[in-house]
Amino acid sequence: MAEPSAFIVTRNLRKTFVMGRTRVHALAGIDLDIPEGTFTVIMGPSGSGKSTLLYLIGGLDRPTSGTLLVNGQDLNMLDENALAVYRRNTVGFVFQQFNLITSMTALENAAFPMRFAGIPGKERAQRARKLLELVGLETHLRHRPVEMSGGQQQRVAIARALINNPRLILADEPTGNLDTTTGFGIMQLLSNLHRDGRTVVVVTHDPRMLRFATHVLYLLDGRLVSREEYEASIQTEPTG
Ligand SMILES: Nc1ncnc2c1ncn2[C@@H]1O[C@H](COP(=O)(O)OP(=O)(O)O)[C@@H](O)[C@H]1O
Ligand SMILES: [Mg+2]
Repeated sequence: MAEPSAFIVTRNLRKTFVMGRTRVHALAGIDLDIPEGTFTVIMGPSGSGKSTLLYLIGGLDRPTSGTLLVNGQDLNMLDENALAVYRRNTVGFVFQQFNLITSMTALENAAFPMRFAGIPGKERAQRARKLLELVGLETHLRHRPVEMSGGQQQRVAIARALINNPRLILADEPTGNLDTTTGFGIMQLLSNLHRDGRTVVVVTHDPRMLRFATHVLYLLDGRLVSREEYEASIQTEPTG
């Protein structure tokens, strides 16, 4: 068998949470290969392990066992410092709750992750301004999160995710707090990043997001399943 060469590779990836005497197998053995430059949508209902999988790929948490390679780098082998460097240089993260700093302007929020990259303040502001223009917020540079709509806040979060020019964008239900039209705008923006050559992985339970995907994976109870199995399961579940 050839060596795995995709941008993201997992083999028998597991994450088990221990809570008192119970164990939750959030990821129960995931094998996936995500090629560079693709737009992958991972579909799954609430509790299926979507966030857990994205956090592991993003180096925000560590697996219980299994292989996890990104860009040929084995994340299990990285110590805390190296993992922080990986997060800063390789990954841009977009969250459902936007996670902006409420006391900061759009410009300050977008520039924030650069503080730790040793780049002078003026250059940071310039780059943040360019990215806010890219996401259509050139008129909102001085606005704080409370002065912006949800869609605008998510655009700031996307600018922030791009600030260190990462090759990989990970988005955890980025449209979950937005109305449909605004959500499509955000997905379109993520799709443009993919067209620029970035690898984009979005997890969602919203099937309307599938139209943006080049690749689709289905997650149920911590396992990847076929589309048929997924659809059969979702139809019988009243809550989704
Ligand atoms: N930090 C944690 N401690 C304990 N259980 C967790 C933790 N994070 C997630 N889980 C559990 O793991 C499973 C998958 O969670 P998650 O990845 O958040 O799913 P999703 O994002 O698809 O809703 C759920 O049963 C959840 O309760
Ligand atoms: Mg989640």
